[in-house]
Amino acid sequence: MEKGLFITFEGADGCGKSTQLALCKEYLEKMGKDVVTTIEPGAGEFGQKLREILLHYNGDVCSLSEFFLFLADRAQNVEYTIKPAIHQGKIVLCDRHTDSTVAYQGYGRGNDIDQIDTLNAIAVNGTIPDLTFLFDVDTEVAAQRVGDEKDRMEAAGKEFHKNVRYGYLELAKKYPKRIKVIDANLTIEEVFEQVKSVLNQYIKQYVNK
Ligand code: TYD
Repeated sequence: MEKGLFITFEGADGCGKSTQLALCKEYLEKMGKDVVTTIEPGAGEFGQKLREILLHYNGDVCSLSEFFLFLADRAQNVEYTIKPAIHQGKIVLCDRHTDSTVAYQGYGRGNDIDQIDTLNAIAVNGTIPDLTFLFDVDTEVAAQRVGDEKDRMEAAGKEFHKNVRYGYLELAKKYPKRIKVIDANLTIEEVFEQVKSVLNQYIKQYVNK
């Protein structure tokens, strides 16, 4: 059996990662690959309930509580969706994962990064992405794409989103082999050309060995 592959899609709100994930799925399926897509927060019924609270609850949510709920959602997604699919040799495309928590709850909310790394590691229990696309977009461009209808996280303010972007770029410096930075200020087609070029190279190097 072919070795499964775990690819994550990361970036600020409005970076266009979900569109790129859908294009990747189509592209890989045309190559004959077996692809599974998933999302954090929000995989499965339990994940969807957590997503509803995380993005739409109107009352006060303290930053640690928010952090633990994202981790709970992740543990569930890894256990029931990601791990089984990788073991079956599939390619898993995951819309947000551990780097989101470092960028948003760490650099954005100000929780301790080392603690986040430790708890993220417990939540994923050894399942680490093989490859991560980081869709980097100017904070102003991202805000325009998000528009006026904002969920709880999107409404967190300009400074917060600037810190999130900075956090992501720090992560890319820390893990240059895993995280590939994509210029997401361009058109959907131009962004996908960059994604395809990384993907083709990666598949040639690591898959079917
Ligand atoms: P997403 O599904 O990308 O939102 P949308 O489809 O509206 O673009 O992500 C949901 C939000 O949750 C996003 O603002 C980022 C945030 N988030 C965190 O703050 N921490 C996390 O660990 C994850 C996975 C997401």
